[in-house]
Amino acid sequence: MDSPSRPKLFDFHGVSMINAFTDNWEAIQNFKARPDDVLIATYPKAGTTWISYVLELLYFGQMSPDRQNTLPIYERVPFLELTCPDIDSGTDLADKLPTSPRLIKTHLPVQFVPKSFWEQNCRMVYVARNAKDNMVSYFHFDRMNFAQPEPGDWNSYLQKFLAGKLVFGSWYDHVNGWWKKKQTYSNLHYMFYEDLAEDTGREIDKLCSFLGLSPSAEEKARVMSGVKFDNMKNNAMTNYSTDPTMDFKISPFMRKGKVGDWKNHFTVAQNEEFDEDYKKKIDPTLQFRTEI
Ligand code: A3P
Repeated sequence: MDSPSRPKLFDFHGVSMINAFTDNWEAIQNFKARPDDVLIATYPKAGTTWISYVLELLYFGQMSPDRQNTLPIYERVPFLELTCPDIDSGTDLADKLPTSPRLIKTHLPVQFVPKSFWEQNCRMVYVARNAKDNMVSYFHFDRMNFAQPEPGDWNSYLQKFLAGKLVFGSWYDHVNGWWKKKQTYSNLHYMFYEDLAEDTGREIDKLCSFLGLSPSAEEKARVMSGVKFDNMKNNAMTNYSTDPTMDFKISPFMRKGKVGDWKNHFTVAQNEEFDEDYKKKIDPTLQFRTEI
């Protein structure tokens, strides 16, 4: 049975959502983007925090140590659509951000992105993660985060994933929708979690060329060290230990950070069912790696 304290999922213009991401809808849709804003977009658990911290260090790593030591990543990179009692909404936080550029995070499917981001031709960085690892990570996150709907057991979670009945809707629609957008909107850099895991330096180089940044070798080394999994896990400003809705005794936010952990979760039968369904839903021009 669903716990009464957990939010309920509902259909919102064809996408499964919860109130925390729709209650501020008018302000979200009317959000005024600036031309130099960088929008970081992902399906939940695809590596949002990782790429946010890469961007944060590339742009602001040399600013006052206070910024690095006292501000959690979710205050430096506001979550656009988030609104919950007692804290500033994502749109308010973004409005108040003193930095230039502003780094703004969203999990919105592409059709929900506020129009000013397109009108201002903002740069956007999308990170996609292979469906199986993405789902495993989301399952453990939903177990430990009481601001998310009850996940149920693993097998029922798999069925919800296939049906797109998780917060922010169908993984397939999300990655396909952003991929399609990339064909017509040139200021979108589409990245893969698996590539970032395989060769972080190479991916940072590509990202910098998209952003028009040219960090020195020392700066790049500093960024690469800061964003290593273990360093982010041990950094209270990036590991979400300051978020009261999460119970790390159930599962830590920085959980494993691996490609291929799905093999420890899927049975052979579940894997076959998943693959069969996957072929029908994924854009065939969009190719993921489930191991590296
Ligand atoms: P796992 O649950 O598989 O460990 P998001 O930030 O979108 O919520 O994604 C969280 C996932 O990204 C978690 O995956 C987390 O461990 C992983 N992650 C975060 N920082 C990482 C890093 N520096 N290197 C590799 N994976 C990282």
